[in-house]
Amino acid sequence: GKDKELIRDSWESLGKNKVPHGIVMFTRLFELDPTLLSLFNYKTKCGVVPECLSNPEFLEHVTKVMLVIEAAVNHLDDLDSLEDFLLNLGKKHQTVGVKTQSFAVVGEALLYMLQCSLGTGYTAALRQAWLNMYTIVVAAMTRGWAK
Ligand code: HEM
Repeated sequence: GKDKELIRDSWESLGKNKVPHGIVMFTRLFELDPTLLSLFNYKTKCGVVPECLSNPEFLEHVTKVMLVIEAAVNHLDDLDSLEDFLLNLGKKHQTVGVKTQSFAVVGEALLYMLQCSLGTGYTAALRQAWLNMYTIVVAAMTRGWAK
């Protein structure tokens, strides 16, 4: 319905520039929670945000995140088909020390990126549509956390 249309239309331009949009998102994420920087234990340490953003491994992760979002956008009609993938992705994030509560902050950063890039296109309905999809993705990832 309407939600899917809003998401697909807005992703059309965003998806063509994944890294710059992902950088806006992660810059916001680290503003909201700077402690998350320390979870990126790459060969070249992400000590501070500017260093981090020029680290190829970090930029790869930004791309990975955007590709997962794109997979969700492409599977809006059958998000269930991503369940196993997202559960395993959740497991991986538990291993690297991410707490499930941090996904709420990631969600805020995602909405911030959408607001920055869509301008007046960022409506209440669009925000809610994205939040609904993101909530489903995060719920599936969270099922990967071992009890
Ligand atoms: C892998 C951290 C959020 C997608 C990783 C890795 C780290 C990490 C340290 C392993 C190293 C690497 O592959 O670069 C974080 C932190 C997050 C976060 C601190 C925020 C709290 C997300 C989100 C998504 C995502 C929201 C997608 C929705 C991925 C993918 C991988 C990955 C696809 C590769 C998994 C694999 O190798 O099988 N993440 N991540 N990450 N992350 Fe994240």
